Amino acid sequence: MTEKELRIEKIRNGTVLDHIPPGMALKVMKILGLEENVKTTVSIGIHVPSKKTGFKDIVKIEDRYLADKELAKIALIAPNATVNIIKEYEVIEKHRVSPPSEIVGIVKCANPSCVTNAREPVSPEFMVVSTDPIRIKCKYCEREMDSKEIIQNII
Ligand code: CTP
Ligand code: ZN
Repeated sequence: MTEKELRIEKIRNGTVLDHIPPGMALKVMKILGLEENVKTTVSIGIHVPSKKTGFKDIVKIEDRYLADKELAKIALIAPNATVNIIKEYEVIEKHRVSPPSEIVGIVKCANPSCVTNAREPVSPEFMVVSTDPIRIKCKYCEREMDSKEIIQNII
């Protein structure tokens, strides 16, 4: 890559979440709790030209490696994201994210009369009914939600 093309610096150590759907990087940040309490350097690319799919978002988190649970949450909103583990500037591991089979406490039910949305709410829980395209189903009211609704209802 020439200097003219350089948009976001490579990182020395950490995690690069790549091929995030354009516009979803901030939701990824929210899922990772990086809206506040950021403790290491994070670089975000939004609507970056991509060789493969036109445009993509990228999140580079220095000196942090994500738990499987965190990656599973990201899969809900970025099913084609790749996770690149960087050590001393090299990509030493690359894998895709995969959604969890159960979702507890990260998405709220789209049904306003669901018991999980009551004044003294119980924690929302969903089963994943399909992964491609993603569909989840509320364990309490059985309301199904597609990716668009999931994104709108990330807690
Ligand atoms: N990357 C980085 N810092 C490094 C190495 C890589 O930020 N030290 C980033 C690259 O900019 C890229 C991602 O990590 O966004 C994956 O790197 P690489 O596998 O080298 O790129 P590609 O081959 O284009 O990846 P893919 O085939 O997954 O698109
Ligand atoms: Zn419900």
